[in-house]
Amino acid sequence: VEYPDLVVVGAGLFGLTVAQQAVEHLGVRVEIIDVRDHIGGNAYSYMDEETGAEIHKYGAHLFHTSNKRVWDYVNRFTSFTDYVHRVYATHDGEVYPLPINLGTINQFFHAHYTPAEAKALVDEQAGELAGTDPKNLNDKGISLIGRPLYEAFIKNYTGKQWQTDPKDLPAGIINRLPVRFNYDNRYFRDTWEGLPTDGYTAWMERMIDDPRIHVTLRTDFFDESQPYNRKALAAAGVPVVYTGPVDRYFDYSLGELKWRTVDFREVRYDEGDHFGCPVMNFSDPDVPYTRAIEFKNFNPERRASQNPDRTVVWEEYSRFAERGDEPYYPINTEADKALYARYEELAKAEPRTVFGGRLGTYKYYDMHNVIDTALTAYEEQVEPLLKK
Ligand code: FAD
Ligand code: NA
Repeated sequence: VEYPDLVVVGAGLFGLTVAQQAVEHLGVRVEIIDVRDHIGGNAYSYMDEETGAEIHKYGAHLFHTSNKRVWDYVNRFTSFTDYVHRVYATHDGEVYPLPINLGTINQFFHAHYTPAEAKALVDEQAGELAGTDPKNLNDKGISLIGRPLYEAFIKNYTGKQWQTDPKDLPAGIINRLPVRFNYDNRYFRDTWEGLPTDGYTAWMERMIDDPRIHVTLRTDFFDESQPYNRKALAAAGVPVVYTGPVDRYFDYSLGELKWRTVDFREVRYDEGDHFGCPVMNFSDPDVPYTRAIEFKNFNPERRASQNPDRTVVWEEYSRFAERGDEPYYPINTEADKALYARYEELAKAEPRTVFGGRLGTYKYYDMHNVIDTALTAYEEQVEPLLKK
């Protein structure tokens, strides 16, 4: 084959951003490969024909940022709706607003506390373990917001997320639990938020809408029967941007980095609207899933093209990932961090290969972080390689 100037492994937001920048700045030819049958990585979505819902295939994705460079960049490829993210939780037969705020507190205690009164109450309840050093997540939670609110809204939800009793989880998993002493339940605090007007996939297709960018799907970088494989590219000296798992690149030679994954169960209802909101958390152990996503409700501006009589919901079940599962959230224990640091050394030494994205750097990144780090990686690492 005639090799391109750059091969990008992974058609997620990191890879697409780097490819777009390489073409825009240097006019080079870029080949993007992905093992999946679609572009977009974990931000990919598709339209559900029956309901008219846009389903986020790898879990609910909300775009938000306070980074001007990222906001300006993404707006070149899509506009955003005025969607504002809000989450509700079902606990003990009642629905409460989240994050825990004055509305949650007053509903929970059947009270009409002022902000100062609610704060005094939470401080007093959090004082239960005063003077002790919380050794596990359960004690940490109590010491942050007091036992009643912790046990109602955090304890069992966290237990389901980790499939582990919070008494057996390290205290370090949480540093703070946000409590708002007013009625503001807007989830994100960023300057900008919204959903891409024509959907995630249309946004990402526009990023690479250029004849110098070619995409090959269903193609694994490590499969030596395909031309863009690791060995062949190294032999030909083609620069590579790699956004797959860093431990996989090095054949797990130092051990495996640990992740959590999420299983989705799809349920359809003969109703126009099942929850009345896009995200419903389930705070109690009697419901085995952590939360349910009703995708139609992310796009109320599309009501006219949605089915008024049917809706689709995805229930989320969280668990530890095995090899072969989709890796979603880095576990990030001290051992994992130390192991990643050793892989990072190997990655730095790897000639003509730039590692990036959430899998390539073992980080939980939101989309705006991934785009920001991709713009920087392009400038600092990829462009110098292309000019050599
Ligand atoms: P990915 O999107 O994972 O792309 C990497 C690509 O590399 C994949 O397509 C993969 O198939 C491909 N690949 C891997 N190995 C190989 C190989 N050997 N050969 C070929 N291709 C390979 N962010 C937000 O901003 N807001 C949210 O609300 C939000 N919610 C999220 C919910 C969940 C459940 C998850 C898991 C993530 C969420 N994110 C959210 C984060 C967001 O998904 C990521 O920031 C972003 O998608 C990461 O882009 P990436 O390019 O780094 O990685
Ligand atoms: Na193209």
